[in-house]
Amino acid sequence: MLSGIVAHLVEVEVDVAGGLPNFAIVGLPGSAVRESKDRVRAALRNCALAIAERRVTINLAPAHLRKDGATFDLAIALALLAANEQLDQRALSGVVAVGELALDGRVKPVQGALPIARAAAHAGNRRLLVPAANAREAALGGGLDVFGVASLDEAVALLRGRTALDPTRVDAAALLDGGISCDLDYADVRGQAAAKRALEVAAAGAHNVLMVGPPGAGKTMLARRLPTILPELSLDEALACTTMHSIAGLLGTQSMVTARPLRAPHHTASEVALIGGGRPVRPGEIALAHHGVLFLDELPEFPLACLEALRQPLEERVIVVARASGTYSFPAHAQVVCAMNPCPCGHAGDPRHACGCTPGAVQRYRGRVSGPLLDRLDIQIEVPALPWHDMTSAAAAEPSAAIRARVRAARARQRARYASQGIAANAELGSRLLEQHCRPDPAGTRLLESAVDRLRLSARAYARVLKVARTVADLTGRDHIGATEVAEALQYRMLDRPSA
Ligand SMILES: Nc1ncnc2c1ncn2[C@@H]1O[C@H](COP(=O)(O)OP(=O)(O)O)[C@@H](O)[C@H]1O
Ligand SMILES: [Mg+2]
Ligand SMILES: [Zn+2]
Repeated sequence: MLSGIVAHLVEVEVDVAGGLPNFAIVGLPGSAVRESKDRVRAALRNCALAIAERRVTINLAPAHLRKDGATFDLAIALALLAANEQLDQRALSGVVAVGELALDGRVKPVQGALPIARAAAHAGNRRLLVPAANAREAALGGGLDVFGVASLDEAVALLRGRTALDPTRVDAAALLDGGISCDLDYADVRGQAAAKRALEVAAAGAHNVLMVGPPGAGKTMLARRLPTILPELSLDEALACTTMHSIAGLLGTQSMVTARPLRAPHHTASEVALIGGGRPVRPGEIALAHHGVLFLDELPEFPLACLEALRQPLEERVIVVARASGTYSFPAHAQVVCAMNPCPCGHAGDPRHACGCTPGAVQRYRGRVSGPLLDRLDIQIEVPALPWHDMTSAAAAEPSAAIRARVRAARARQRARYASQGIAANAELGSRLLEQHCRPDPAGTRLLESAVDRLRLSARAYARVLKVARTVADLTGRDHIGATEVAEALQYRMLDRPSA
């Protein structure tokens, strides 16, 4: 069973005794588990596997773990059959079975088949029976034979050795290679060269981004395409994403997440939806964006409590959900992209529309995103309304694949540089490493000095400029940070500029 992202194996013990017919499940069963006995009974009956009416006690071990969900049905049914000598006890040794039973004996899909398969293999089991719909996903885990069964009948026939069902085999690496079938591409976005460049820098250094611009400028379009220029998922990353989607029940018909996820929660989403929680505890949007992108559109509309709740997990790359039943942690290593209008009406600074907002209203609006979260957005850019010329131009824009190639090369440089430092990208640079790796040359230093005076950059903003300048240099393959790199990084401090 699942407890957050952790799968626990539960042993099903059956004791059959004389006396009045009775059927009890013990071992801290939740209500769905207690109802299991009705589903199991009906399924057995409908598969012509009725067991003798005796006094049956089913114990789910370990006793201290609260058992939730309907996924024990299949295991309980098989254990009952073995206790009733309709199945050879030996056929069940080293076997893990997971699945909910329908009354007619069908085995219904479960959530979390992949982490369950991994836990089963890790504990030294040889065979795993899962609902047919989950077989490919479970087989990704490797280390044991996975059999997908569509019904209780099929499971019994398999364990009796009556069918020659082959274990499911999946070539995860091949799935991953053939996987990028994304229909989004930066080639679809006209103009907006500066914004695309900023997003390329963001992708190259794993920097969080804020885009500010009027409605219709293409902010949402630009943000949704960020995953298409990030480096391809490694196999481990893909399995981590798959696990998260699996336990959230979001895999659908696919057996593996092969592209970096983009999660775009609406600003009306609850804190539980964003952070995680519920019963059983499920990952929230920030964990579903693990190894991908979390897109917060209309940033100022998000309740402050939500933004506040996001701050720490973004920094620590893990989200901890504390509930009465325990503490659950989910990895949450996501890149954040935010978008907002420049003012409540959306037209401040737009030459084609007059802005009807009072200065006070504009200030309040922008103030909603100031502070701790804003501090973590290394790159802040303005995305202006698209000029007519760009809107109608037939010039082909650069495809995502070409941008991704440059991003990949820049990431490789960072990995090599930080190989022994425990970080992967410039966005993760702490102050000590910043000092070591982001010192600009004399011209860069002079430019930075005058900018700090002119823009009154905070120490935090100063550090962000240096990190981003490092990434700009990595994109061009330069070792040192010069005035050109500093100048570009300074452009990405939109909200620090006096005009803002
Ligand atoms: N640069 C662009 N290139 C092509 N289409 C665009 C561009 N900008 C906006 N559009 C069109 O306008 C629509 C609205 O863009 P959107 O990304 O939602 O803007 P925003 O989020 O800034 O309000 C898009 O669906 C797209 O059809
Ligand atoms: Mg939008
Ligand atoms: Zn306005």
